[in-house]
Amino acid sequence: MLSSNRGPRLLLSALGTLLAAASSVSALGSNCTAALGSGTAGASDPFWLESIKHQGTAPFNPDPSTYTVFRNVKDYGAKGDGTTDDTAAINTAMTDGNRCGSASCASSTLTPAILYFPAGTYVISSALDQAYYTQMIGDARTPPTLKASAGFTGFALIDADPYIPGGSGAEWYVNQDNFYRSIRNFVIDLTAIPPSSAVNGIHWQVSQSTSLFNVIFNMSDDPATEHVGMYMENGSGGFMGDLVFNGGNIAVTIGNQQFTVRNLTINNAKQAISGIWDWGFTYQGVTINNCGVGFNLTTGGMSKDNQTVGSELIIDAVVTNTPTFILDSSPANGGLTGGSLVLSNIQLTNVTTAVGVIGSTDAVLAGGSTTIDIWAQGFTFSGTGATGTFVQDKVAAPAKDSSLLDGSGRIFGKTHPQYESYSVDQIISVKDNGAKGDGTTDDTKALQAVFDTYAGCKIIFFDAGAYYITSTLNIPAGTQIVGEAWSTILAGGTAFSDMTNPTVAVQVGNSGDTGVMEFTDMLFSTVGPSPGVIMVEWNVHDPTGQQGAAGMWDTHFRFGGATGTAMTSKECPQTSRNDACQASYLGLHLTSGSSAYLEGTWVWTADHDLDTNESTNITVFSGRGILSESQGPVWMIGTASEHAALYQYNIVNAKNHWIGFAQTETPYYQPSPSAPGPFTSNSTLNDPTYSGTADSAWGINIVGTSGTTIFGAGLYSFFSDWDQSCVPTMNCQAGVFNIDSKSSVNVYGLSTLGITTQLNVDGNAVVDAKPNVAGYQETMTYWGPASS
Ligand SMILES: *[C@@H]1O[C@H](CO)[C@@H](O)[C@H](O)[C@H]1NC(C)=O
Ligand SMILES: *[C@@H]1O[C@H](CO)[C@@H](O)[C@H](O)[C@H]1NC(C)=O
Ligand SMILES: *[C@@H]1O[C@H](CO)[C@@H](O)[C@H](O)[C@H]1NC(C)=O
Ligand SMILES: *[C@@H]1O[C@H](CO)[C@@H](O)[C@H](O)[C@H]1NC(C)=O
Ligand SMILES: *[C@@H]1O[C@H](CO)[C@@H](O)[C@H](O)[C@H]1NC(C)=O
Ligand SMILES: *[C@@H]1O[C@H](CO)[C@@H](O)[C@H](O)[C@H]1NC(C)=O
Ligand SMILES: *[C@@H]1O[C@H](CO)[C@@H](O)[C@H](O)[C@H]1NC(C)=O
Ligand SMILES: *[C@@H]1O[C@H](CO)[C@@H](O)[C@H](O)[C@H]1NC(C)=O
Ligand SMILES: *[C@@H]1O[C@H](CO)[C@@H](O)[C@H](O)[C@H]1NC(C)=O
Ligand SMILES: *[C@@H]1O[C@H](CO)[C@@H](O)[C@H](O)[C@H]1NC(C)=O
Repeated sequence: MLSSNRGPRLLLSALGTLLAAASSVSALGSNCTAALGSGTAGASDPFWLESIKHQGTAPFNPDPSTYTVFRNVKDYGAKGDGTTDDTAAINTAMTDGNRCGSASCASSTLTPAILYFPAGTYVISSALDQAYYTQMIGDARTPPTLKASAGFTGFALIDADPYIPGGSGAEWYVNQDNFYRSIRNFVIDLTAIPPSSAVNGIHWQVSQSTSLFNVIFNMSDDPATEHVGMYMENGSGGFMGDLVFNGGNIAVTIGNQQFTVRNLTINNAKQAISGIWDWGFTYQGVTINNCGVGFNLTTGGMSKDNQTVGSELIIDAVVTNTPTFILDSSPANGGLTGGSLVLSNIQLTNVTTAVGVIGSTDAVLAGGSTTIDIWAQGFTFSGTGATGTFVQDKVAAPAKDSSLLDGSGRIFGKTHPQYESYSVDQIISVKDNGAKGDGTTDDTKALQAVFDTYAGCKIIFFDAGAYYITSTLNIPAGTQIVGEAWSTILAGGTAFSDMTNPTVAVQVGNSGDTGVMEFTDMLFSTVGPSPGVIMVEWNVHDPTGQQGAAGMWDTHFRFGGATGTAMTSKECPQTSRNDACQASYLGLHLTSGSSAYLEGTWVWTADHDLDTNESTNITVFSGRGILSESQGPVWMIGTASEHAALYQYNIVNAKNHWIGFAQTETPYYQPSPSAPGPFTSNSTLNDPTYSGTADSAWGINIVGTSGTTIFGAGLYSFFSDWDQSCVPTMNCQAGVFNIDSKSSVNVYGLSTLGITTQLNVDGNAVVDAKPNVAGYQETMTYWGPASS
């Protein structure tokens, strides 16, 4: 697979082998007779998720014994026969059990559900409104089709945030709090709807901890088609990937604070992507064939209350037979215009204009049949230079160590594993093996026994539930874990209660281990007070020749803000500063010997209680977000880290990280107390130090690190001690992004909000935000070290 640039990889692998020899390598569980090997599902078998025993529960639901998490839509009367109207049956499956929806409930963790669709064609005649905390999952072996009937009425086939009728513009959920959702393995078929009807395939107005993947959208090819594949007008996302759009007027209409899109293919649409507004988007792997325009972006006209497209970053695109790749609606001319662009490795074939402006025949960047290695539009900076230079030109290329690239030289990507080729008997359930998952029973021993017995020879299924642990769980290298609608590992008790003696809750492999390590659809959380918990320590490295073997997909961290955590609006109201609301010491630690592929991971210390109907504000304390000391490769694709006291990302003495888009928020209570309070800096963990009474957390702090690229970041500070008036004046905090001068890191498309200084070097203020106003946010297009 890896045909080129093997040198550095071999070196790394050799290091891995040495380390492995020096300590324990992954071993098979005691009841394993052979490694798992390949899947053994028979050709006509359904996806194992359909056939497995269904015993997931929602332990904090008012009635866990009757509440159903897993819902096969056929059990609710759907036929999937291509002719019966299945709308009512599917909606019954969706709403059964007093789910959170219908505009009466802002959020809830108490009613999680999977709506499972066996193979088949499900005809629907009106919208399927997706309740909060729902995963809609099609048979991964034979993705089912959701087919709109010719007479379909409604805004979208699937609606993740329905508008309330009456024209007020109000919706079921607050767009930037629309968490915990997924849609996967479907064909969304609009072709029976008359081309003149402007219906959307999916209305996906979502925030963090959401994913959309492995979906094909089929729309009319008629020249007059008004069909839209996906419509997203706002939100605070998020990750989506492995999507194919065929036909339509607009494949994707998209506006959101920030988003990461990986592996997107659009064929035969009049407009591939219509960008309405953003603070920053990262597209990794885009294929556009035979479209009228690739990215049609609303730019310019920006002010704090007129948000248009602020910043787009696109890497590894292939664009063919499409007259214009990127079309801005107004020229970027060095004024306060937004429209920041970064293009890297863009292969054009028969594309007249690479970058153009509506109404102008002069291309900003000419097309042709050519490859654009690197090109940027916007303000660039280097070293400690405070003044930006406006460019529409080449800038320094991102660091792309070969360990980060696939066989075609593109940034490597790996789809959320679903194990669809495996048979039911290759999966074992933790509940069948003694774990209770009821939120209160101590499951530490039962879970440890499952790992010790089956790691490496079974896929370990965490039936929906909350698994309480009271001491360190050791998960050996070679383990593959699948959750069910975010099965939760809930750490609590005295082992995790001492801030001066931090203790790991989930230890992933031992130092020096290599092997497969996959987590999907899991959630890590704590019961407070737990100021001494290091939630996950990640030690495993990819084996030689296997990229992305150690990773997490749709797997998140949540500290406080939910029933069962003892850190809710009751214990931790907004104005409180309650020691009982100390939720964690450190979220995720990638140790120096590890590698990691993180897709969509959100490390969230709750700022509001998800289980009140009014999104009640709370004050909960976590020490640190994500610490990486990894020598790489590390892919952080669409990750976010919010509200930790010292930092959201701390990347120290590390190498070869690919990070894009990265999103952070500073704690709303800061500077009361100021960082690092109520915690203290620990030099053993390379914590930054703080000395002022107005100090706030770093969004990203980078020290002694090389080979690393930030390809899109949004670092926000919306409050000063819960007061928002500092946002327009850009002084909720002084600085948010620090790089030491020894590091070799390139930063592209950095957007900030509420921050005075966008970038610090060695702690000193360098780039002032004010000249970079680009709408509601401030954006700098490129920064590199002085020598580059
Ligand atoms: C391990 O295998 C033995 C022999 O087949 C069996 O008796 C035992 O129950 C198994 N242990 C577990 C934890 O499944
Ligand atoms: C979707 O459209 C593609 C391209 O036109 C086609 O090959 C495929 O069969 C269609 N799928 C369905 C389920 O209609
Ligand atoms: C969401 O986006 C739409 C379309 O851009 C806009 O009209 C609306 O005001 C936005 N709503 C919120 C709550 O931001
Ligand atoms: C991209 O997505 C398509 C559609 O889901 C899939 O077939 C393909 O394998 C994906 N490619 C990569 C590199 O993930
Ligand atoms: C680009 O979007 C604008 C605004 O929606 C629209 O008027 C224009 O027709 C679009 N351009 C193309 C080539 O589709
Ligand atoms: C907002 O920006 C758009 C895009 O440039 C422009 O068409 C519109 O007139 C602006 N609106 C206001 C109120 O400035
Ligand atoms: C180039 O693209 C245009 C559409 O923009 C298409 O009409 C034409 O056939 C393409 N040329 C070739 C040689 O494919
Ligand atoms: C600092 O962190 C190290 C590593 O986790 C730990 O062993 C030590 O106890 C911590 N020191 C304090 C004072 O918390
Ligand atoms: C939230 O709203 C739902 C639906 O109206 C209701 O059943 C539930 O009791 C409410 N919960 C709270 C905490 O108010
Ligand atoms: C949360 O706090 C903000 C800022 O103080 C305030 O504007 C908002 O009304 C509060 N929300 C609720 C639901 O109390």
